[in-house]
Amino acid sequence: MGFQWDDKYSTGNDEIDKQHKQIFAYLDELEEHIEKGATQAWVSHFMSSVGLYTRSHFCYEEICMRRAKCAAGAQNKVQHTKLLAAFSAAQKRFEHEGISDELLEQLKKFLTSWLVNHIMKIDIRLKDC
Ligand SMILES: [Fe+2]
Repeated sequence: MGFQWDDKYSTGNDEIDKQHKQIFAYLDELEEHIEKGATQAWVSHFMSSVGLYTRSHFCYEEICMRRAKCAAGAQNKVQHTKLLAAFSAAQKRFEHEGISDELLEQLKKFLTSWLVNHIMKIDIRLKDC
């Protein structure tokens, strides 16, 4: 499987780390279904689940950063808005065009970029707060 949890992803906040691990699990699930051939129904269900989870996770994380007066808080919020916009665009495309290899790759890219870049550049700065 693609992504393994590593201590380098730790934010110092157990609940946020737990939520990030759930996103890792979503990515693994997506890779697994891409390999064996994802169905339209599965992708629809997956996108709803991951969208819902992402929104609630972002809210939680933003509150934590605000409470901790974390310097990365404002930047975190901006990036979350961008990530959600990218996700919504993928979701709209899926509704109009249906399943495609390109869309699945886009989804995978969205989750991967969030996990690897966003967590490593922004979320781990919670440790210093
Ligand atoms: Fe974040």
